[in-house]
Amino acid sequence: MFLDTDFIPSKYTQTVENGNFLWTAPSNIALVKYWGKKENQIPANPSVSFTLNNCKTITKLAFEKKNISTQLNETGSEFSFDLLFEGKPKEDFKPKINKFFERIAVYLPFLKDYHFTIDTENTFPHSSGIASSASGMAALAMNLMSLEKALNPSMTDDYFYQKASLLARLGSGSACRSVKGQVVVWGSQANIKGSSDLYGVEYPYVIHDTFKDFQDTILLVDKGEKQVSSTLGHDLMHDHPYAERRFAQAHENLDKLISIFENGDLEEFIKVVESEALTLHAMMMTSMPYFILMKPNTLQIINAIWKFREATKIPVCFTLDAGANVHVLYPNVVKENVLQFIKDELVGYCQNAQYLCDQIGNGAIQV
Ligand code: DP6
Repeated sequence: MFLDTDFIPSKYTQTVENGNFLWTAPSNIALVKYWGKKENQIPANPSVSFTLNNCKTITKLAFEKKNISTQLNETGSEFSFDLLFEGKPKEDFKPKINKFFERIAVYLPFLKDYHFTIDTENTFPHSSGIASSASGMAALAMNLMSLEKALNPSMTDDYFYQKASLLARLGSGSACRSVKGQVVVWGSQANIKGSSDLYGVEYPYVIHDTFKDFQDTILLVDKGEKQVSSTLGHDLMHDHPYAERRFAQAHENLDKLISIFENGDLEEFIKVVESEALTLHAMMMTSMPYFILMKPNTLQIINAIWKFREATKIPVCFTLDAGANVHVLYPNVVKENVLQFIKDELVGYCQNAQYLCDQIGNGAIQV
């Protein structure tokens, strides 16, 4: 297993008996997609995302030092925690958290010394089909880093945020892009200074004003449980006939975005973003076993966006996650027109006419 020894603390200078922290962390929407990974959540290709603002997870972490440090919990592990979702115990989330703790224990030696109460909720509807793993894992990672900072107050801000992103990554890859900054790159890319496979970094170069208030309206096409999880989908990129070419293409697209971000060329932006979305789904359709996550209404929406864009020349485009929902992306200056278009022509394709309005945001916040 790969260990980044820089993030393994040698000793803590303080002791903390009990307390609590509260962090919110947002979801994010990838422009260049992460799809395929190596061992220990190392991405097969780099990705870049806009951080969202309104769709987020709010997590309170209460902690209390245990008297005996090694008591096994009901799953036979040494971690001791209760999990509340929207104020009620949620047993079915616990195995995922337990696995997360196992993965990060080497980086946070204090984990076994405390009993935790993790109290979490999302600002978006539970069954909206929006994955909460990015915002959820990021919010938990921020809280754990606050505790580590209390144990070691001399840590720098850089260390705090890099390690928070590294921990979040070990919970869910895309979560490492939900920590800090409006535009976040994860994965090593020669032309992007500081980029790393280990954690997300704030995009370090010039970003044109047009992107600074970008809007993301999320059309909820299908709120049902996905037939194929992201984790399984990532796995199918091993031995995938187009994998190598796809990974190379992600690097190329990320390079293209460097000049697009700088000069605000929305026509080129749209080409990269829509191609990335369709390529992601093309990878799903050409893996073995193959699968399709888009629904008929996903395609109806895509076609309607193309028609509207052609007719009005308004720079609006779509991207997709690993699901049927459509993220409609556009600059703030055309917001009124696009929202009217959504109400007039796209709402009918959404389940229960539901959609969520979001926009680019800054990352996790301590409350
Ligand atoms: C399509 O981060 O959910 O949204 O690392 O297995 O938890 P795990 O996968 P996850 O995959 C997200 C894939 C994606 C593209 C992206 O966000 O880059």
